Amino acid sequence: MSVAKPLPHDAARLHVTGSARYVDDLPVPAQTLHLAFGMSEIAAGQIVSTDLADVRAADGVVAVMTAADLPFANDVSPSAHDEPLLATDRVHYVGQPIFLVVAKSHLAARKAARLGKIDIAEEKPILSIEEALAANSRFEDEPRVWTKGDVSAALESAPRRLKGRIEIGGQEHFYLEGQAALALPQEGGDMVVHASTQHPTEIQHKVAEALGVPMNAVRCEIRRMGGGFGGKESQGNALAVACAVAARETGRPCKMRYDRDDDMMITGKRHDFRIDYDVGFDDAGRVTGVDFIQATRCGWAMDLSLPVADRAMLHADNAYHLPSARITSHRLKTNTQSATAFRGFGGPQGVLGIERVMDAIAHDLSLDPAIVRQRNYYTAMHNDATKPAQSKSRGTRFGAAHSPKPATQVTPYGMPVTDFILHEMTEALLVTADYDARRAAIAEWNANNPFLKKGIAFSPVKFGISFTLTHLNQAGALVHVYQDGSIHMNHGGTEMGQGLFQKVAQIAAARFGVDVAAVKITATDTGKVPNTSATAASSGTDLNGMAVAAACDEIRERISDCLKMLYQAVEVVFADGYVTVGDERLTFAAAAGLAYENRVSLSATGFYKTPDLSWDRIKGKGRPFFYFAQGCAVTEVVIDTLTGENRILRTDILHDAGTSLNPALDLGQIEGGYVQGAGWLTTEELVWDDKGHLRTHAPATYKIPACSDRPQQFNVALWDQPNPAQTIYRSKAVGEPPLMLGISAYLALSDAISACGDVYPSLDAPATPERILKAVDRVRL
Ligand code: MTE
Ligand code: MOS
Repeated sequence: MSVAKPLPHDAARLHVTGSARYVDDLPVPAQTLHLAFGMSEIAAGQIVSTDLADVRAADGVVAVMTAADLPFANDVSPSAHDEPLLATDRVHYVGQPIFLVVAKSHLAARKAARLGKIDIAEEKPILSIEEALAANSRFEDEPRVWTKGDVSAALESAPRRLKGRIEIGGQEHFYLEGQAALALPQEGGDMVVHASTQHPTEIQHKVAEALGVPMNAVRCEIRRMGGGFGGKESQGNALAVACAVAARETGRPCKMRYDRDDDMMITGKRHDFRIDYDVGFDDAGRVTGVDFIQATRCGWAMDLSLPVADRAMLHADNAYHLPSARITSHRLKTNTQSATAFRGFGGPQGVLGIERVMDAIAHDLSLDPAIVRQRNYYTAMHNDATKPAQSKSRGTRFGAAHSPKPATQVTPYGMPVTDFILHEMTEALLVTADYDARRAAIAEWNANNPFLKKGIAFSPVKFGISFTLTHLNQAGALVHVYQDGSIHMNHGGTEMGQGLFQKVAQIAAARFGVDVAAVKITATDTGKVPNTSATAASSGTDLNGMAVAAACDEIRERISDCLKMLYQAVEVVFADGYVTVGDERLTFAAAAGLAYENRVSLSATGFYKTPDLSWDRIKGKGRPFFYFAQGCAVTEVVIDTLTGENRILRTDILHDAGTSLNPALDLGQIEGGYVQGAGWLTTEELVWDDKGHLRTHAPATYKIPACSDRPQQFNVALWDQPNPAQTIYRSKAVGEPPLMLGISAYLALSDAISACGDVYPSLDAPATPERILKAVDRVRL
């Protein structure tokens, strides 16, 4: 069967030969115009006057538009209608688009955009979390608070108690392909938009509102993105809407792509967080209660910040049973780029909070941090579909509380944890990673090396799969079988490099019993499958795979019924490129041809919605997730205590992708996710000055991991057990969860620092060489 095979990415050859087409590679019609935004250089203030005479007079300029020139909605917000395409009376951050230049070339548009004279009555911006809290500048009137049990009582009666804080920086998506869109005006006012977007339906929706037309007058198409990572869920709206309104204004095709610096100045990034914790625990290191205060900087517009902040709260437990908990979330409004979706969608920040707590407890009790983690794990519960735990346990790690018949434990939001497999996974990984022996060897090495210090850390992830806005958990598909047996597959998911299209093509091929080469992968198109959700929350394959399977099954049943009638047979089997009908064996192509001649419809739509979800986000109670994807990692690092420089020496990962649909693509997601997570917490640092200017807006100043930064030894394995939840071929989502395994790199750096002294290192993220050096100094005092 074509599923479970490690096939390469369908476009791998095109990617590496430079022949894969991205939006900027599409041949454009003659007369195409190019766009650029004139941006605010002030973080907050009132626009007093706008003088665009020089812009209009500049070489190659065809039109210049301001908010007043927009015919209908001036809004590119995915949520609260608080995000004008072009600033009206006020500006809210440095980089905010104020006017739009339409010119004969990309360069002419960009040059002209610099000539605007905007007079702004500057006000003092609110930039930091502290300033926003002090000014009570937030997106909801009150902080959101979810509680489980009586945390105050638990903290007061706890045998031991610790308080602390961690600051966690944001992250630039750094998709290799920047934001881009192309609008092609059609007859009768219709518009076709090609956009680099994870969310074509939203582009269609926002463009329709901006043009004052119904959604059926707009079609959005996207074959692939050169990376999205959440940064193309909502951030592409502005370019697509700008192109559409300019195309309508000029009657000519319009194209826009952000230069890298502009992209970094204009678009939102991962939310930065400040997390305060107050934890009570016993002498064995088991948590009795924890109080988290999460404060997050959302930037100037609401965008997706509320669900992102919710997901941070939903992952404040990560893999650990918290008998009592209170999680408070402040969603702060600041004069910075509007923070947005980024791989993990707030989950990674929530997870880092509790992982820091686990480390602090271990340090306080002088216990191995891996043991403290295992002692706090949810109890293992086994659904029938998973294999029972193999007892290669080393005995001591679970502690006395690990009884053979545990009661179901619930998360802080009241969801029972019934498919927890991290006990076995951890046991297995700690053995293959040789954790105990290496920890002992590192201690000895550190004792003999005055300047270089090594560190090692284990960390797990348990990540909830489903959109927390329940209605988004739906997907549609459209499948055609042609009379020659070739298959045309379309669904609402988008391809951003993750391999979604190949996995779903494998599913389609499996349903018809043909080779995956028989399935044509086609561009996502709102004219083929309507009302799609963003390809996000890692659920692309879960949702679209099921919808495509449903469409294929419908066509297969029709062919099957036709053949049964023709051959007077009772059974029809589709396998290995053939269709067997009683004693007859036809090629799939012959079967399709016969069905066509017998006037059978060979086209079908498919639909899927995730079952068993219920969620009250205000109360913070319910079952927001269909299941949990899990994984664990061990990272070893070395730091230079004289400079703070560091390297990842070795990483071992065991990750749960259920029954993998494509082990090659899944391993790629795990490796890439880990490296992106490690980059977030080590080298990628966003710096704004006190005027709100982002000073790190290009690769010269913003350091993403390079090939040479990958772990020198990188051992990645799949757990490869079926998902107990009824997902497509019992697979599990894999797009985001492995990012959180990068947390082990940060924890290993902290472990190396703690080899320099007795106090628990205070270390904020990202753990840049500068921060490491300072932390070493503090530990040595
Ligand atoms: N992998 C690549 N190569 N490029 C990407 O942009 N985005 C990530 C993840 N893996 C991304 C990626 C994010 S944020 C998500 S939500 C998932 O892929 C989305 O795809 P899926 O639902 O098909 O896993
Ligand atoms: Mo991913 S952050 O859900 O696009």
